[in-house]
Amino acid sequence: MIKVAVNGYGTIGKRVADAVAAQPDMEVIGVSKTSVSAEAYIAKKRGYPLYIADLGKKSAFEKAGIEIAGDVEAMIKAADIVVDATPGGVGEKNRPLYERLGKKAIFQGGEGHEVAGFSFNAHANYKEAEGHQFARVVSCNSTGLVRLIHALDQAFGVERVRAVMVRRGADPSDVKRGPVDAIVLNPATIPSHHGPDVNTVLPHINIVTLAMIVPTTFMHMHSIQMDLKKETTRDAVLKVFEDHNRIGLVRKATGIKSNAELREYTQDLGRPRTDLWENGVFEESVSVLNGKEFYCFQAIHQEADVVPENIDCIRALMGTVKDPQESIRTTNKALNFVAIG
Ligand SMILES: NC(=O)c1ccc[n+]([C@@H]2O[C@H](COP(=O)([O-])OP(=O)(O)OC[C@H]3O[C@@H](n4cnc5c(N)ncnc54)[C@H](OP(=O)(O)O)[C@@H]3O)[C@@H](O)[C@H]2O)c1
Repeated sequence: MIKVAVNGYGTIGKRVADAVAAQPDMEVIGVSKTSVSAEAYIAKKRGYPLYIADLGKKSAFEKAGIEIAGDVEAMIKAADIVVDATPGGVGEKNRPLYERLGKKAIFQGGEGHEVAGFSFNAHANYKEAEGHQFARVVSCNSTGLVRLIHALDQAFGVERVRAVMVRRGADPSDVKRGPVDAIVLNPATIPSHHGPDVNTVLPHINIVTLAMIVPTTFMHMHSIQMDLKKETTRDAVLKVFEDHNRIGLVRKATGIKSNAELREYTQDLGRPRTDLWENGVFEESVSVLNGKEFYCFQAIHQEADVVPENIDCIRALMGTVKDPQESIRTTNKALNFVAIG
């Protein structure tokens, strides 16, 4: 069993911990926080040993009835690999600790590519992880873009990509962030950081991205256009998506045309925390014009799509499973990842 520490038990960390616990070949040896909050109670209920960065705060946790197993350094020492899901920028500060203790670590998209020097996506570059001490799972938006672009690049070749990201303003529990009533250009300059981030995994792709933030908490919405190298048909593209185990089709017959309805749907499907781990490509939007011009809308659940990627990245860095598809299938099966459409 691979011993996994989750450093930073927040939005991403709590999902990764549950996904690790569900796998047949890994176990959670600890999770960490800095302050007493609802997530500390959830860690206790799940039975994950809780570690804290500053042992000076131990009595505050104990007063709240939450036992502390030790400090973060003790947790890292006990692990084979660390998933660092601390807020953006903190991972970079944690890196020297992982280096000093000689531990493998996975960072998240809030860190720059340089923190690991290797950015990961299971379908695109799983095998390249071998031999690395560090990897970075690209952000939620980049993960969604990389899955779609890589699938079409494999099938037809991609000449260029132009994409617009409509981003959620905050995560559902993030009461302090906005916007409440605005559409914010993010940034006003072009390109947004998403295209260059896709290039950290797929360096040969010609991509320009634009982004804006809107007042919603559940999912980003991408509007994507690609010029393909080979002529194809809408049916052939739909077949590529149907055969892909991390691209889901939001079927026309469901009548779903919004993030809100899609959330209701994932909830009714019984997904934990309503998580949509795959890209939600709207079937009706999938279009091929003039043989080579591809268009679609896709929904990306910011809290969820990077979670299975972190699980595959653990196996890829540890070198325990060499075949990407074997890892992806194992991850999906353990999550009870049933197709949405
Ligand atoms: N949320 C998303 O939509 C999303 C999507 C994809 C990628 N990401 C990336 O994933 C990473 C984590 O984001 P998040 O949204 O999960 O953040 P989050 O909800 O704020 O959670 C961060 C967690 O880290 C803990 N923490 C903070 N400083 C720590 C330290 N020094 N040592 C140990 N634990 C520490 C926090 O605990 P306390 O609350 O007790 O301080 C909290 O539990 C970021 O790089 C982010 O960019 C986020």
